[in-house]
This record gives sequence, C-alpha cells and structure tokens, in this order.
Amino acid sequence: MTKFQERVFSGVQPTGTLHLGNYLGAIKNFVELQNKYNCVYCVVDQHAITVDQDPKELRSNILEVLASFIAAGVDYKKQIIFQQSSVPAHSQLAWVFNCVSRIGWLNRMTQFKDKAGKNKENVSVGLMVYPNLMAADILAYLATHVPVGDDQKQHLELSRDIAQKFNNDFGVEFFPQPEPLIYGSATRVMSLRDGSKKMSKSDPSDFSRILLTDDDDTITAKIKKAKSDSELIPGSKEELQSKPECLNLINILSATTNQSVDQVLSHYAGKEYSSLKKDLADSLVQVISPIRGEINNLLNNQDELNVILAEGTEKAAAIANPIIEEVYKIVGFK
Ligand code: AMP
Ligand code: TRP
Repeated sequence: MTKFQERVFSGVQPTGTLHLGNYLGAIKNFVELQNKYNCVYCVVDQHAITVDQDPKELRSNILEVLASFIAAGVDYKKQIIFQQSSVPAHSQLAWVFNCVSRIGWLNRMTQFKDKAGKNKENVSVGLMVYPNLMAADILAYLATHVPVGDDQKQHLELSRDIAQKFNNDFGVEFFPQPEPLIYGSATRVMSLRDGSKKMSKSDPSDFSRILLTDDDDTITAKIKKAKSDSELIPGSKEELQSKPECLNLINILSATTNQSVDQVLSHYAGKEYSSLKKDLADSLVQVISPIRGEINNLLNNQDELNVILAEGTEKAAAIANPIIEEVYKIVGFK
C-alpha cells in the first residue's frame, strides 16, 4: 500500500447550536489533534440541507459553528476551517462516489433508517446518499484520520468501502483507507433526560442537552434536573451498566476533568447523586464559560468570521482541486 501523507479531516453540521456531545465527542479531539497532524475542519452545510432548513437560520448556524470551532481552540491560522459548499470539489467527488457506492450499502445505514423511520419513500434522496458525500468530504483531501463521535462509525466504514471499491474498480492505489478516531470517555454523550438516547440537537427537550452557549445558571440547573435515581452511586463498572443515566454523568465528568472513569467512580462510589452533580456542574461551567464568551465575541464580529471563511476556502480548494483533477483523469473524464 502506498504511504499516504497523514491528514485529519472532520465535519460538523450547522443545524443548531452545538452541545456537549459535539464538544466532547468531536471538537475537543479536533483541538488536541492539531498538535500532531495537519487538520481540515469543515462546516458541512450541504449535509444540513438533506432535511429542511430555514435559509436565514442556516446562514447564522454556519457562522455559529465556525465561531464554536475557534472558541474551542481550533487554530484557524495553522489549520484549515471552511464551509463545505464553498469548495465544489466535495460535490464533484460526491457524484463520482454516487456511482461507486451501492444502494444496498446505503440501505444498511442505521442513521438513515432512524431518520427516515416510516417515511422512507418521502425523505430526500440527499438523506440517503449523505454517506457518499461524507466519503467525498474526507477523500477529497486524501485524509487518513477522521475524529468523530461513536454515532459516525458506520459512515466511516462506508467511506472505507467506497475508497476500496474505487481503487479496485479503476486498478489504482489512489484513495487511502480513512481511519476513525473515536476516543475519550465521552464518545457517546447521552441525553440528560433519558440515558438510552444520545444527546442531540433535535431532541424536543432543552433539558436533555447542555449547549456551548448556555449560561452558568442554566448549566447548573440542567445538571441538577438530570435524570437519576434515589439510590447511592454504585462502586463498580458492572453495576453502572444497569444505570445508564449515572454512567453518562460519570463519563462526562471523566472527560471534562481528564480523569479515567475508574478514578471518578472510586471517588463517588457510595455517595449521593447531589455531590456528583454539584462537581459536574462546576466542572462544566469551567469548561463551557470561556468557550461561550469567545463564541459571543466572535459572533459580534461577523466581518472577521467571513474573512476567516474566505481564507479557509482558498486553502482547502488548493488541496482538493488537484485531487479532483486526478480523479477525473482516473475515471476518464480527462
Ligand atoms: P453533527 O452535529 O451530527 O454534525 O455531529 C458533529 C460531531 O459530533 C460528529 O463527530 C458526531 O459524531 C459528534 N456527536 C454528535 N452527537 C454526539 C453525542 N451525543 N456524543 C458524542 N459525540 C456526538
Ligand atoms: N456526518 C457527520 C455528522 O453527522 C458530519 C460529517 C459530514 C463528517 N462529513 C464529514 C464527519 C466528514 C467527519 C468527516 O456528524
């Protein structure tokens, strides 16, 4: 196998304010990885329109996600942050991948099944071919490493299958096999109201998630109200398995304090939830309040954000355009 130059790529959809799951599952890792890799981080607006969006809200969400990347610590001067729709290479490669990927593969995607539900005949075609576009995002940069939350694992496997099939079909070693980077104690942050559902932007209950824009009192109130039970906190990981809400709180505290789950668990075993919740709220306030402040500063200076986006677009296109040229030669367009 040809040695590919290592590069990180990841994307976040501008479909609402980012929450703690996005931060701990993905963006916190984006920040760490920039010490080791060249990184490309993308606001994936073309993914967002696979379901209905209000155009005005979409534009403001794009800027908010961009501001959240920077506020969380992504270094936009050294790395690349940009908006997907401004670099046509994503759509160009997605079309080629629509013709490489198989309908049977897409039919197996659990996220599609969940999102389409009983409405399978009436959702957009875009929602179904969304994983092909995701593969194009990654492979337009020949990216080798992709930091994501646990829910994106299956989509990453599909990206690998597409890369492999393209290479086989055309007898080349052109695309790498992108590797998912799913790590930390909070790869799947659960709803604060129901430990069996993941924390998401679309849950109808505001109390199910902590937003990166929540003020300190709101964070504390949401943690206080988080679902728990009247027993004491168990002492072993085995017992925790039957208490998903408790496990979630422990995982979050482990991630925000950079301690292992075992360390956190041994500290709270046999104690009441109130002590865990108090420390968790304090820890979250410490992590989120500076990010919130910076998001607000950046959003008050939209001209600067637009300049950052334009610079990112130029840097991203400079990598992706020659790769598309090569792909066009391989498939016989050129
Ligand atoms: P999205 O908002 O769907 O574009 O997700 C952006 C990133 O956040 C992806 O890498 C997701 O895997 C990750 N993510 C979303 N929700 C969660 C969650 N509840 N726990 C952990 N990671 C998540
Ligand atoms: N599908 C991802 C999500 O919903 C977002 C995404 C789009 C992405 N393109 C990507 C993530 C490329 C990593 C790499 O969270």
